Amino acid sequence: MQEEKAEKIGVLFVCLGNICRSPLAEWIFRKHVCEAGLSDAFRIKSVGTGDWHVGQSADARMSRTAARYGVSLERHRARQLVRKDLEDYDYVIVMDRRNEADVRALDRSGVYQEKVHFLRAYDPEPGDYEVPDPYYGGAQGFDHVFQIVDRSTRGLLDYLAVGLLRDS
Ligand code: 4NP
Repeated sequence: MQEEKAEKIGVLFVCLGNICRSPLAEWIFRKHVCEAGLSDAFRIKSVGTGDWHVGQSADARMSRTAARYGVSLERHRARQLVRKDLEDYDYVIVMDRRNEADVRALDRSGVYQEKVHFLRAYDPEPGDYEVPDPYYGGAQGFDHVFQIVDRSTRGLLDYLAVGLLRDS
């Protein structure tokens, strides 16, 4: 008898506008997952808590920075977080405290509390707990955000891959 295929792990990255930090996290994480040969094990998406940029491409400054490191954000279109996302995804990964508060506000009954994590909880380098918002800053901010998101998503994958190996 054929063994039942394990369910994919749903990972949802959340920021404010869904045009800078969370799209970057989504596509870098996809890259790490692909390079690890684990694409079949995950469902990966990003959303924003705000609706200002719904349907738009990633911020051009973020796209340029990502492209310099070989990560394409070209296919990204911004979408807003809805309550059902909290049901549909296993890990809801926020960039900062404002995102966390907004996500928790959508979960009034508190049933999804344990799914919510800060991306930088997986950052191997000690530092701030938040991924800074680069939107209103200069070009350097985008590079800084890339470095943080790159190593933190790698940390997240390491963490989740241990669970996959344990359960296989
Ligand atoms: P993100 O950055 O949350 O990383 O996508 C922002 C994008 C847009 C705005 C703020 C932050 N905004 O105010 O429009």
